[in-house]
Amino acid sequence: MSMSAPAHMPDGSEALARPGLSWGVKSSFTRYIDSMPDGRRGAGYGAAEAGGGVYFFELDDASGYDPALGQGIIKYRGDLRYKGHGGMLFVMVVDPWIEFREAGAVLTVVDAEYWPNRERRIELASLAPAPAGAPCLPRGWGQLDARLTAAGVEVFNGVYALGELLDPVRFSAEA
Ligand code: HEM
Repeated sequence: MSMSAPAHMPDGSEALARPGLSWGVKSSFTRYIDSMPDGRRGAGYGAAEAGGGVYFFELDDASGYDPALGQGIIKYRGDLRYKGHGGMLFVMVVDPWIEFREAGAVLTVVDAEYWPNRERRIELASLAPAPAGAPCLPRGWGQLDARLTAAGVEVFNGVYALGELLDPVRFSAEA
């Protein structure tokens, strides 16, 4: 797949004018990748870099989401990959979904272990309402704090601890 964004992809500000999920994953991880001579990161298939290591994933399907109740699943699409260390490091973040459940919200992604099967998913992060003081976002956009789950710890090779704070997840489901 192409590791560069298509030429027509909007920049970050235009991107927030459309529904989608905007996420830098973990900025220290981005800096780590960028510091490697052979470190690469890139997105496609519905995801594009919005600048500074933040990626925008297009809205795929919000029909299973009830905005009034804040329940259900919002599906976004896109394929984000990081690689380095001569191929020993390879992290995929594909088709992130925000799943609001009774027990709380989680961010799930396609399970890279079974790639190219996209049916199996893992919980990458647990999500919680961002504390007051979160930056002002365009109308229809919300922000959630993201913390690494047990499956997410595996994705990053056990370097980060369970519950490690990731970058905040910004999202909109309004078409
Ligand atoms: C050849 C094998 C590897 C070597 C030599 C290596 C080396 C290192 C070193 C030296 C650091 C500290 C960097 C710093 O503090 O700036 C680091 C951090 C890290 N490594 Fe690796 N690593 C390897 C493989 C991997 C793999 C396979 C992953 C899987 C995702 C990984 C994920 C990470 C993460 C998440 C951090 C922390 C980055 C941060 O947030 O500061 N590493 N690694």
